[in-house]
Amino acid sequence: MALKLNIIIGSTRPGRAGPKIAEWFRKFAEDHGKFDVVLVDLNDFKLPVYDEPKHPRIQEYEKDHTKAWSESVASADAYVFVTPEYNYVAPSSLINALDYLVKEWAYKPAGIVSYAGLSGGLRAAQSLKPLLTSLRMMPIPEGVAVPFFNKSIDEEGTFRSNELIDQSAAVMLDELLRWAEALKAMRAA
Ligand SMILES: Cc1cc2nc3c(=O)[nH]c(=O)nc-3n(C[C@H](O)[C@H](O)[C@H](O)COP(=O)(O)O)c2cc1C
Repeated sequence: MALKLNIIIGSTRPGRAGPKIAEWFRKFAEDHGKFDVVLVDLNDFKLPVYDEPKHPRIQEYEKDHTKAWSESVASADAYVFVTPEYNYVAPSSLINALDYLVKEWAYKPAGIVSYAGLSGGLRAAQSLKPLLTSLRMMPIPEGVAVPFFNKSIDEEGTFRSNELIDQSAAVMLDELLRWAEALKAMRAA
């Protein structure tokens, strides 16, 4: 059975571009053919600013939104975070969603698809990595950065990638699979 990859849309604001880029990446990952791919929209979970009374490592969740989020995150073998850059870091919606859980994330690899202006969201991607490692995820070095993403969204609102972006996506998925296979054994132990 293929390992499960959750592609998580990190922005939640009305009118966001995140779903357009995530939808391209979902198709790309499906064509890659090595993962069982699921697109996860953070906005569906309506997570408020962290509101559980207990530390998440205890996993005694009181709120339905936390239970639903826990179930989604726990089901995956690997993650790809699709993130914009807000003031040079990842958006608070994504950081908050990461903070909600601990054990569900552990010993799984994560790739990052970032998008922004000139930076391609690389600053946001790098800013996420200390948080991912503190949750015992393995943020892989290979990533996808999309600079000036607005220029690659056509009149129908579809994101159109290019050869360089496709190459980086393929390399990231290949590496993510290697890590996901290795870390699955670690979780079983
Ligand atoms: C609060 C906020 C901060 C932003 N900061 C940056 C930034 O630091 N660098 C950048 O290139 N673009 C920045 N932008 C522009 C975003 O790249 C652009 O709005 C993008 O669409 C955000 O992703 P989203 O539509 O999925 O929310 C910012 C946008 C917002 C709303």
